[in-house]
Amino acid sequence: MASPTALISETQAWKDLKGHVEDINKTHLRDLMSDAHRCESMMLEFEGLLLDYSRQRATVETMDKLLNLAKAAHLSEKISRMFNGEHINSTENRSVLHVALRAPKDAVIKADGKNVVPEVWNVLDKIKDFSDKIRSGSWVGATGKPLKDVIAIGIGGSFLGPLFVHTALQTDPEAAECAKGRQLRFLANIDPVDVARNINGLNPETTLVVVVSKTFTTAETMLNARTLRNWITTALGAPAVAKHMVAVSTNLALVEKFGIDPNNAFAFWDWVGGRYSVCSAVGVLPLSLQYGFSVVEKFLKGASSIDQHFQSTPFEKNIPVILALLSVWNVSFLGYPARVSMESNGKGVSIDGLPLPFETGEIDFGEPGTNGQHSFYQLIHQGRVIPCDFIGTVKSQQPVYLEGEVVSNHDELMSNFFAQPDALAYGKTPEQLQKENVSENLIPHKTFSGNRPSLSLLLPELSAYNVGQLLAIYEHRVAVQGFVWGINSFDQWGVELGKVLATQVRKQLHSSRTQGAAPEGFNYSTTTLLKRYLE
Ligand code: F6P
Repeated sequence: MASPTALISETQAWKDLKGHVEDINKTHLRDLMSDAHRCESMMLEFEGLLLDYSRQRATVETMDKLLNLAKAAHLSEKISRMFNGEHINSTENRSVLHVALRAPKDAVIKADGKNVVPEVWNVLDKIKDFSDKIRSGSWVGATGKPLKDVIAIGIGGSFLGPLFVHTALQTDPEAAECAKGRQLRFLANIDPVDVARNINGLNPETTLVVVVSKTFTTAETMLNARTLRNWITTALGAPAVAKHMVAVSTNLALVEKFGIDPNNAFAFWDWVGGRYSVCSAVGVLPLSLQYGFSVVEKFLKGASSIDQHFQSTPFEKNIPVILALLSVWNVSFLGYPARVSMESNGKGVSIDGLPLPFETGEIDFGEPGTNGQHSFYQLIHQGRVIPCDFIGTVKSQQPVYLEGEVVSNHDELMSNFFAQPDALAYGKTPEQLQKENVSENLIPHKTFSGNRPSLSLLLPELSAYNVGQLLAIYEHRVAVQGFVWGINSFDQWGVELGKVLATQVRKQLHSSRTQGAAPEGFNYSTTTLLKRYLE
């Protein structure tokens, strides 16, 4: 067993995988895919959700070696420590318990010796009650009108997770029906153009503003909150804040200081990482206002089902674990820098502060449907090798069948879901092109090397429940990657420096505007740009 401060890269399991890269480099996905037995062993199913990772550059032997790496990284103990509420976020001395946010009412999950599930459900019950009142019109605005539109102000984890779920739920007929006549908008960026876009067409009399901020100090969010408070009070007078503004935060003292009634504040806890907070009031409140609590509860149940799968399934059949081990393989061994598919990996030191001799994160990007085909797919087919995750559904939430056409719109979409992974894996050889009578001068241009890894996740449909499952799979994948690499996936010191420097610039802008002070303390370039801006 490795000592606590040893890097994972010093273990035999890591070295075995390093050595194994050479074997894999001798293979091509074309050949690997012809082994039906291998492909069959690379399919996993859970509650109708199918994962096919046979188009990864991996063999049965690779998977055995990755499972050995999981053992060497003490993955099982680390997962247990997370679920047991130990302070695994050691740099911030906090538990990591986003799984408690979607646990059933009778579950017991302890942080610092105390069962947190009853507190979680107190807030969920409060959200249910409040969102019912808003949606039924029993809570009205300052002029007596029902509040039908919501602007959620927040950034980073206090924005992206809720936006993702909102985007998905818009396509779910049941959720869409519940949202009829209501609008949910998100204000994240500090650009005044975004404020204008958000309030465009909305009437303060019928709008509720939800300020979402874990710390209630984030510069962008607080300025946007002051701006919208001004929008409301200018139209309706200062007392209107009590009816038109509510908050989600761990810092209830600052919420009150801002002028929001503490009764209209929805708490969460420091054991919820900002980027893992969508299942707290951060996501549940705005989404319940839009879709009703019962729809959002299905989303939470979906996430919880994956938590149970993650906690109790042997690693070789554990979807988040397999996804994470493959990511480690692609990033740290095969050297692929990106993945077509919010997180806090990408660290330069281990959890014990030791410099890392390997990469610990990939750049995630992606596009819905075939939009990617018409933008960056050229790059992934013939340029850089970028492992892809393809996510599709058996059933469309909004099917369209055109008269006289047998292949439905969803069939058309899914044709690409099935075709692209094979195009990436197999490619096209010069010999094939010759047989197709492609002219010699075009053969180099039309040759595809193939051997490009991908995996496919086929969901029954994109219901609220499945969206919850998808979210939890990706959350746990990030955590497992971090556990294996031996890094802290739950802190994000890397984003702090930019914030600190922006604060210095803000101070300078303040003293220049109030006292005419010339910019000082900045380098030549920044001073010149600041002078130009201030002129
Ligand atoms: O800058 C990153 C971050 O700290 C995220 O983790 C967080 O989700 C975001 O800023 C917003 O922070 P807050 O919710 O405290 O406003």
